[in-house]
Amino acid sequence: MTMSEGRDGREKGAEHSLSIRELLTLRSVPRARVRGWVAGKAGVGGVVFVMLRDGSGYLQISAKKGVASQDVFNSVREVPRESVVEVVGAVREDKRAPGGVELAADGFEVISRAEPWPITKTAVQSRSYLLEMRHLSIRGRKSIATMKIRAEVMGACFDYFRDKGFTLISAPTFVQAAVEGGSTLFEVAYFGKKAYLSQSAQFYEEAALAGLEKVWICQPAFRAEKSRTAKHLTEFWMIEAERAFADQEANMRLQEELVAFAVERVLERRQDELAILGRKLLRPELPLERIAYDELREMAASKGTQFAYGEDIPTEAERLVSLSREAPFFVTEFPLSARSFYHMTYDDRPEVTKSADLIAPEGYGELATGGQRISEYYPLLQRIKSQDMPPEAFSWYLDLRKYGMPYHSGFGMGVERATRWIAGLKNIRSASLFPRTMTRVSP
Ligand code: 4AD
Ligand code: MG
Repeated sequence: MTMSEGRDGREKGAEHSLSIRELLTLRSVPRARVRGWVAGKAGVGGVVFVMLRDGSGYLQISAKKGVASQDVFNSVREVPRESVVEVVGAVREDKRAPGGVELAADGFEVISRAEPWPITKTAVQSRSYLLEMRHLSIRGRKSIATMKIRAEVMGACFDYFRDKGFTLISAPTFVQAAVEGGSTLFEVAYFGKKAYLSQSAQFYEEAALAGLEKVWICQPAFRAEKSRTAKHLTEFWMIEAERAFADQEANMRLQEELVAFAVERVLERRQDELAILGRKLLRPELPLERIAYDELREMAASKGTQFAYGEDIPTEAERLVSLSREAPFFVTEFPLSARSFYHMTYDDRPEVTKSADLIAPEGYGELATGGQRISEYYPLLQRIKSQDMPPEAFSWYLDLRKYGMPYHSGFGMGVERATRWIAGLKNIRSASLFPRTMTRVSP
């Protein structure tokens, strides 16, 4: 039986089309119809094997000379890699096949014939070639596994915040105020005015607190980062949460619970993908370790990297300390000089903020930054002035403090940073389907 008919998607013959996952779960059906992409091909003697890929997994297809018709055998043998095909045949248990099941094809239709695959071993001379070909290279096993883990992390955040009664909001990405300082702002021409791409939705979250009390957000953030590192993108997705009547302690508990929940979820649902990536992911024990900034400074110094009090923690210091950790940890009590203007300080230590970074273990670096905000008008106005910033630029943000603002705190966590750590990726670019960096805005 060949299947030249029915390209319009109507069901043909007795077998309904199954997803590969459905088939691998059912197993006991005698026959099945599947469709997907030819991820790989091999031939031994009179048998051709195709590794078929669909959105749910991989399935081994075999076509045996003398069992399949000559037509079917020939089309399987000749089908180019990445062609889209529909296959029908007998389902057989086979321990050697991935998933333990093989489909012996007796019907084979090419829905979309592919040209010769351009990403060959000889063509791949450099990492930049792969990035140039990213629209195609994302079909690779590791990319697919990474994206499924990323989706699981984001989905876990949706579930976690919904269960905790946080309202999901959205905020503009065209903005005029710098949340995280002027040096990483992308400027855009906005009808004769200047606007910027948002670095963080935090100020909008703070505005939303009065009506919603607990909010969270998941949207792109932009940073004109002039650094080429394994952890910086110019456009990334950020999960942010902000809560009224929550101090910095409560804020850290929220973050650690969220991270533990996301890891748990990935361990529960994405074992196959972790295996494809060769990632041994450990479930973090709560509470996570808290290391004061000063303590971390000493730890880094003892490992050979020194930095002055007041500086932001250098990447190398962060890396060295985190290499000796198996779970994420907080670095608390950041000096004000290393923080954005809105951070609250301790009454008895006006140079120290009620803020923390959440650092991933094993050298992956910062996952999140959070803190308690200045919630009163005059202290915030004074802080803005003391840092030589124009209060007019923050007028509505200041205004919020005039009309009922309780103590509150929040944090932001980069989705690609979290994915990079959870999936164990060398570079943050792999955690994004189409990464944006200083040198790349295409494909
Ligand atoms: O530490 P950041 O700059 O903190 C804020 O933007 C706060 N306003 C968030 C808040 O309190 N609501 O950014 C937060 C997180 C970082 O910890 C990191 O995970 C991620 O965003 N991030 C980046 N991810 C990829 N590439 C970059 N260039 C990033 N910059 C920040
Ligand atoms: Mg930070």
